[in-house]
Amino acid sequence: MYIPLHHKYRPRIFSEVVSQSVTIQMLTRIIEEKRFHPAYLFSGPRGTGKTSMARILARSANCEHGPTVTPCLECDHCRSIEVGNCPDVMEINAANHTGVDQMRTLIEDMAYAPSTCRRRFYILDEVHQLSGAAAAALLKTLEEPPADTSFILATTDPQRLLPTVRSRCLSFDFHSLPAQAIEEQLTEICAQEHWEIDPDVLFYIAEVAQGGMRDAQEMLDQVSLFEPPVTLERCGQLLGYIRQETLAALVQAARQQDRLQTQTLVRELTVYAEPLAILQALAFFIKDLLVLQRTKRLNLTRVLPHLESQMLILADTLEFGQMLRIIADLQQNEGKLKEVAQTALWLEMIFLEVFSNGVTAVLEPSEEPEVLPLEPVSSSAPTPDVQIDLEALWSQLLSQLPPLALALFRDHGKLASVKDQQAVVVLRSQGLLRAAEQHLTVLQKTLSQLLGFSIQVSVTHSEKP
Ligand SMILES: Nc1ncnc2c1ncn2[C@@H]1O[C@H](COP(=O)(O)OP(=O)(O)OP(=O)(O)O)[C@@H](O)[C@H]1O
Ligand SMILES: [Mg+2]
Ligand SMILES: [Zn+2]
Repeated sequence: MYIPLHHKYRPRIFSEVVSQSVTIQMLTRIIEEKRFHPAYLFSGPRGTGKTSMARILARSANCEHGPTVTPCLECDHCRSIEVGNCPDVMEINAANHTGVDQMRTLIEDMAYAPSTCRRRFYILDEVHQLSGAAAAALLKTLEEPPADTSFILATTDPQRLLPTVRSRCLSFDFHSLPAQAIEEQLTEICAQEHWEIDPDVLFYIAEVAQGGMRDAQEMLDQVSLFEPPVTLERCGQLLGYIRQETLAALVQAARQQDRLQTQTLVRELTVYAEPLAILQALAFFIKDLLVLQRTKRLNLTRVLPHLESQMLILADTLEFGQMLRIIADLQQNEGKLKEVAQTALWLEMIFLEVFSNGVTAVLEPSEEPEVLPLEPVSSSAPTPDVQIDLEALWSQLLSQLPPLALALFRDHGKLASVKDQQAVVVLRSQGLLRAAEQHLTVLQKTLSQLLGFSIQVSVTHSEKP
């Protein structure tokens, strides 16, 4: 049976892990000094080694010849952890086990000592998806952790964890992997598999994967099915290649309303990628810029490490409200793009339009786009008067709230106004006011962070007395 590459090449010991050297160094010390902590938080983008490293930590702690940073991979413990049937190393996907009951069963089991291993590990994947009550149960356990037990919480979205849970954990940031490191790994795999694949293809895959090794390996699996020698001409379409550099240049061109340059860049992208994918990639790209502008933290984005300084500069050339509006406008134009025939031409129009002014820009397919005049357009257009898009701001805010607050405000609340450093959130019913007031601080803090200035939030309700 064929084993997918991302299973076959999962790193089993630290020396097989690509990049993440800071995390490796720290975990190595932990194992050497046997200073096992009750809770670890592994956060970072998908496919960057969180689950793999959690298993390595569990294996290093429990190898029959250990604790050791070079587990033997052959003893019963090493093997059972590898295949996932070790009773003391449990992997739980929080996305499927969000309930408080499961959490309670798990906690009850902890009353017993580990059955065969030295130390028990619970690896909780996608832990930000635990329900409010289950997260609260987890917090309680972390406050009084059982001896001989470690939790490894893995998440792509640490902002959505309860801050109290976060603060109980020893934190490790996993970074997007540098394209070059991915490329080297792919080259190595091709050599081992005796695959004849053009280096250009590997380079492109490493870039498209945007820092995620699993995605890269999956793409390699796919292109290996082409008739050899596999060249970019053969598989570029499949890869839907969209370079971040080109997107950055596109943002600049569209912002300056440079039609010729916008046209050129869009054409460059459409050689390999579908217009809809390009539209979505641009929306994603601007979302990343927005996060960068607010947090200056590259590892919360899919921005490639070597583009860091360029992206930070680019992020600062755009206004926060403008970015929110552009993202919303791009999303709204997705539907239109599906209806029209000359998609590349529409794409150029849409990009120029969404960057052009403060008015919501959704193009109507009935207005056929004119062929673009090529004379230069003044690049010193006045800065648009930025209006805050309340809906977009609200969804951005929701995405950063901890689970309990999220559930309450997403289903029952709405941002009614933001004015003079005062924001008003309206709830559907009076009965929810008390509950909502408990989350006022986090609401205020998150909103202030998003807006870049401090803001007072008040909560009211829309029920008629
Ligand atoms: N740093 C890395 N070095 C080598 N291979 C890696 C690395 N990160 C990921 N991989 C490859 O990707 C696969 C998936 O990695 P892993 O499950 O550890 O990622 P993850 O960070 O837990 O992702 P997710 O957030 O999607 O769960 C591994 O089996 C391995 O093949
Ligand atoms: Mg994982
Ligand atoms: Zn072993």
